[in-house]
Amino acid sequence: MHRPPTFLSDWKNDYQKKLLSVEDAAKLIKSGTRIFSAGWAGDPDALINAISARSSELEDVEFCSNNSLRLAFNEPYNDGHIRNNQWFVGPGARKDIQEGNGTYTVHNLSKMERDMAGLSMDYGIMMVSPPDKYGFMSFGVMVCYARFLVENAGTVIVQVNRNMPYVRGDSLVHISEVDYVCEENSPIASIPLIPVNQKSKAIAELIGPYIEDGSTIQLGIGAIPNSVGKLLAQKHDLGIHSEMITEGAMELIESGAVNNSRKTMHKYKSIGTFAGGSEKLYKWLDNNPFVEFYPAHYVNDPYIISRQHKLVSINATLSVDLAGQACSESIGSRQYSGVGGQMDFNLGAGLCPGGQAFMVLNSTANTRDGVVSTIVPAFPQGTFVSTNRNDIHHVVTEYGVAKLRGKSLRERTNALISIAHPDFRAELKAEAKRMKFI
Ligand code: COA
Repeated sequence: MHRPPTFLSDWKNDYQKKLLSVEDAAKLIKSGTRIFSAGWAGDPDALINAISARSSELEDVEFCSNNSLRLAFNEPYNDGHIRNNQWFVGPGARKDIQEGNGTYTVHNLSKMERDMAGLSMDYGIMMVSPPDKYGFMSFGVMVCYARFLVENAGTVIVQVNRNMPYVRGDSLVHISEVDYVCEENSPIASIPLIPVNQKSKAIAELIGPYIEDGSTIQLGIGAIPNSVGKLLAQKHDLGIHSEMITEGAMELIESGAVNNSRKTMHKYKSIGTFAGGSEKLYKWLDNNPFVEFYPAHYVNDPYIISRQHKLVSINATLSVDLAGQACSESIGSRQYSGVGGQMDFNLGAGLCPGGQAFMVLNSTANTRDGVVSTIVPAFPQGTFVSTNRNDIHHVVTEYGVAKLRGKSLRERTNALISIAHPDFRAELKAEAKRMKFI
């Protein structure tokens, strides 16, 4: 049961009393329970491995996380001792989820905590930085929903890791709030830098002129948002209010293009809810007052997003149909990713005075069946719509920008065909006519 953070002059004693070996911490887990982990690089890797090693002793345990780097519990969902339930699917868990060794929970990141609220969370586990002089540890690169776990899980176990950056914002947990501590200094998971390629550069150059100096930027996950970030170095007085703080954001702050001076909220600060990048980024974030992290229920709240100065959101998608719906998380019915905050930022940018949202994708994709158009007449059966057609403003490929906001079905269909790869335009036009879209 949660206790509020309490000032303890002898917090070091409290820390020592709560300290266990990683193996002993893993032994706390009982059958018939749910473990909820902080997700992504906030998953306490050593503790999870130790729980995994005990898997055969446990029955009917559910392990929930968000974008785990790899599935420690890659057992068939129904037959395993520990069932895996991911709230975002990234490269780490993708294959296992697709093969049925786990499942995915559907949600928008802004509402994740509301969706978690109905669950019994027997254990909340997370990786944190070492304590500061008052006994506060930082959630580091995964602030997201960590505080919600601290306040709502039956038993809170933290893995203290000296490699976890101590980040600023609403990002701290006090030793008095946790039940057990274990220690292991593993490297913090990183995302390899995606080099800018010709297509992503072309897309970035198309978006560049739409972004005014002074805008507040959100850059999503993927190669194209990264390329847009590089191009923004030529702008002035930009702000950052983004779900993820990346290497690109660091470079923009260092270059001076981002100074957050025109922000309506959190002036002079870049805001995020988690970070993903290299060790260099994590070292840079350590105690860095230029960047603050807040829970996702705040950063991704479409109302908060809408209050930013000229919010521009740039998110990648996998496929768009002629009605203007975007599928960003599945290939057919195969779960490939999650929606994360994509929907939140499209909605928030739509409500923001002067706000703009861009959904970006390459016009073609290489598949087992050859090269396919990512602009399609209609999605194949089973495809999941991630961002609905009412909230999408612009769709961008290397062939141009299709403006969908305020456009009729006829206009949006023509606009989308005009940015499809030329080899597929005739086919798309014929299908659009058949469907009476044009
Ligand atoms: N049919 C079949 N395959 C397709 C496809 C289609 N229509 N469209 C894309 N693909 C394939 C690509 O060919 C590529 O496969 P490859 O790696 O074998 O070449 C893969 O799907 C996508 O490439 P990936 O490298 O994973 O793309 P990315 O890193 O640029 O990420 C998204 C793109 C859409 C997966 C990612 O942006 C995402 O997860 N978005 C949703 C979440 C989000 O936007 N959150 C926003 C807030 S941070």
